[in-house]
Amino acid sequence: MCGIVGYVGDQPALDVVRQGLRRLEYRGYDSAGVAVLGPTELAIERRAGKLANLDAALADNSLPGTLGIGHTRWATHGAPTDRNAHPHTDCSGRLAIVHNGTIENFAELRDELEHRGHELTSDTDTEAVAHLIEEQYDATGADLAKAVRNVCNALEGSFVLVVAHQDQPDLVIGARRNLPLVVGLGDGENFLASDVTAFIAHTRRARALDQDQVVELRRGGVRVTDLDGNEISGEEFHVDWDTAAAEKAGYEYFMLKEIEEQPEAVKETIGGRLAPDGRLRLDELAISDEDIRGFHQAVIVACGSAYHSGMIGKYAIERWTRIPTQVEIASEFRYRDPVVDRDTLVIAISQSGETADTLEALRHARQQGAWVMAVTNTVGSSVARESDAAFYTRGGPEIAVASTKAVMTQIAAMYLVGLHLAQVRGTRDADEVRSHYRDLAEIPALIESTLTRMDGVRKLAREISTAERVLFLGRHVGYPMALEGALKLKELAYISAEGMPAGEIKHGPIALIEQGTPVVVLATRHALSPKLVTNVQEIKARGARTIVIATDGDESVTPYADHLIRVPDTKSLLSPLLTLVPMQVFAAEFAMARGLDVDQPRNLAKSVTVE
Ligand code: F6R
Repeated sequence: MCGIVGYVGDQPALDVVRQGLRRLEYRGYDSAGVAVLGPTELAIERRAGKLANLDAALADNSLPGTLGIGHTRWATHGAPTDRNAHPHTDCSGRLAIVHNGTIENFAELRDELEHRGHELTSDTDTEAVAHLIEEQYDATGADLAKAVRNVCNALEGSFVLVVAHQDQPDLVIGARRNLPLVVGLGDGENFLASDVTAFIAHTRRARALDQDQVVELRRGGVRVTDLDGNEISGEEFHVDWDTAAAEKAGYEYFMLKEIEEQPEAVKETIGGRLAPDGRLRLDELAISDEDIRGFHQAVIVACGSAYHSGMIGKYAIERWTRIPTQVEIASEFRYRDPVVDRDTLVIAISQSGETADTLEALRHARQQGAWVMAVTNTVGSSVARESDAAFYTRGGPEIAVASTKAVMTQIAAMYLVGLHLAQVRGTRDADEVRSHYRDLAEIPALIESTLTRMDGVRKLAREISTAERVLFLGRHVGYPMALEGALKLKELAYISAEGMPAGEIKHGPIALIEQGTPVVVLATRHALSPKLVTNVQEIKARGARTIVIATDGDESVTPYADHLIRVPDTKSLLSPLLTLVPMQVFAAEFAMARGLDVDQPRNLAKSVTVE
């Protein structure tokens, strides 16, 4: 949702900013713009639509200058038009601002500004901020950083602001509340961006800004303060991702590349976790054994696909530790006044680490005294920084909006967390923990093997790509994966897809089945297999076209499968790491057969930073 870039250095700013915006495209946007401080003026170009429209507008104007800011906008206040695209300016046109987030008190601020004689020309909340900074810039005697700090104190809502001023040729100001802003630290140049992918081509040294902090970015260095102007020291971190990881490498879509990257990603997540003494070691999980032994319950909060990973986490934690575990959609959690206390372990799962619903849920949990663990892919993210401990999934950047390798690595991470809790609480002995870990360590090769079998899945997806409804059924860990399969198809192919527990279908949803309705059944081998076979028979008898994902060598369901998709055998609890693959490939191919862009599905944003 919205991408922001700021740059000051000695390179042509337009190139750096445009490249950064391109890398942030995956976040979802509907207009884009840049401002570059040239020798005589602060030049601005902005256009509705994709970056190509902005590029076309800039074709004859290269906006010379080495300081610039840029923005991709996901419209909230006002339609996605040229006029509402960022940057916005003040009355003088000497100040330019880009903004992510929403200013909740903007209507009253706007009224006051108009009353004081400012002329606002867009429908956005952002423009009001530009004019407020204009007033403060004058009031503070041209102290841009102080002006921004003063304005931030008057704003309600969430924001990242990046500001440039014609009279300040060596200064870009950034400020944040509730949304991410990362500083890229270079040599004689510095960067600001919504996430590190925007600047990793230039530097891998970064520093994340915390809540209500303002950064002054100059060629020679950066200075961070709180909103009262007190200087704040902060930690720098190194970004492991390289530019290749954020590029398509010959694939038509990032999503296809990310599906193929899964064996490697899972290897990274689980690798090197056994200490020489044979015990599982999750070093980064700074949580004492005493705390772990004291937990009476666990609550997992997450959204969308991450919620499905959480559901698998619940099965693993309860099976291995017997700690009662609930999984809750983060956006619902705090509003029902949940019962969490000092003996509750709250696990917040988030690929981006910036999902507003998940952040609010973990903040609420911490206020109640709960101990919060983040499971996230993003070092330096808000979810990581606001938790008591962070466990990183190490999946590398995920650019496609629809989550694939992130879900896979989240599930793998949840198995590790479950095993670690079991080891410390002694609910599984060392041999058992080791044996489960070894099963997990075999998974990357099994995913690899599954990926080699996908031709039939692609052919099938193309064949039935005109279907307007697909159902997904599973039992036990197959149920969350049925939800995930349906979500992938919904978001990519824009059709109605529903995942449900196979045992539940006879309580209502079976009425949806008519002649030829495609139904994907996750029927890998486990204790409930005979019951699943019965469920498949029930739906087949009613005309469903059955697409069955089954374990190699298991013939129990073969007579009732119109299409069989085979995955290798593994422990049933771990089977989601294999069944995910055909469902991802199925959804992507189904959507591509309908001519859709699987990297940037309509209406969606990669990082959902509003509640
Ligand atoms: C689905 C998808 C979303 C995310 C959800 C949470 O493919 O990508 O459902 O899983 O928005 O995002 P994170 O994990 O960044 O908190």
